[in-house]
Amino acid sequence: AVALTACGTGFTTAAAGDAASEGAGAPEAERVFKVAFNQNAEQPEAVALTHLGERLAERTDGRYSLEVYPNETLGSQKDTVELVQSGAVDFALVAGSLLENINPDFVALNMPYVYDSQAHQESVLNDPAITGDLYTSLEDRNIRVLGGFSAGVRSVYNSSHPVETPDDLAGLKIRVMETDTNVRMLNLMGGVGTPMGQGEVYTAIQSGVLDGGENNESIYANLKHSEVAPYYSYTNHLMIPDYLITNPATFGSMSEADQGVFLEELEAAYGESSRLTTEVMTESQQAAEAAGAEFNSPDVAPFRDAVQPLLDEKLTTPASRALYDAVRAAAGPTEEGGR
Ligand code: GCU
Repeated sequence: AVALTACGTGFTTAAAGDAASEGAGAPEAERVFKVAFNQNAEQPEAVALTHLGERLAERTDGRYSLEVYPNETLGSQKDTVELVQSGAVDFALVAGSLLENINPDFVALNMPYVYDSQAHQESVLNDPAITGDLYTSLEDRNIRVLGGFSAGVRSVYNSSHPVETPDDLAGLKIRVMETDTNVRMLNLMGGVGTPMGQGEVYTAIQSGVLDGGENNESIYANLKHSEVAPYYSYTNHLMIPDYLITNPATFGSMSEADQGVFLEELEAAYGESSRLTTEVMTESQQAAEAAGAEFNSPDVAPFRDAVQPLLDEKLTTPASRALYDAVRAAAGPTEEGGR
């Protein structure tokens, strides 16, 4: 499960290795919070959360720590949202698409080409003036969003040929995350959007049920999708954030001071995850290429133009429109107009 150990340096840390053995690395504490994660323990977000747990244990004098359960051990992302709601799991890291299914306003942060870069995304994601109301909007559903992590840039890949234009996607069944927004987006881009959980994608491509998928370089290399779909084309169409969610009652069980420590250390975790994400994407691209995958960089303008109808179709509430506009307004001047 730890394919990325082959990908180079600076990535597989001792803490990540410990977390992979499920718990061995969690610092002892009176209360060890369970964190559900769907990818392996070497992924940047898991490493950063494991380190957050260590700092939390230290700064709360052993009252609290975190134990990251990787590889869907506690369930798929969809399951773990429900487990957080019921209080059975304390925290989960879930993609924005899952939250869009609970409050459609989240869609604004999941739109294609809404961010110009990882730095742009990170500058808005945890700015309370932009996302504060959104993140507390799920309290009556027993979910509190503590913050968002950048999860890289997603592009399409497939088993038959490099994609240079939307026409090259014609007839190709491309796996997307399970929202109708993503299905519609991929159809507008020229292909056939096929919703599916991440765990089934490799076999589906191998057996011809799918022609490919869309994801960042890390997942592409790490889950070995590069073996069955060797053409990776930088359409750079999506940057869906991953959110750290908890149950308001779980989080509120800590004293206010300890909650403050948690939130301070979470800020540091964003920074660590961000640095590792940048590294791991480059390493993964190189590893996949060395293993035979072909990368190409099409002109993204035709893809960006093709998905424009999605904005009017999906940004249907004043809140989602305002969010989208606030994100665009925060884009750098040279990048105005989108990627
Ligand atoms: C990314 C993202 C995950 C998500 C996955 C997917 O890896 O970080 O949260 O589950 O894509 O495509 O399902």
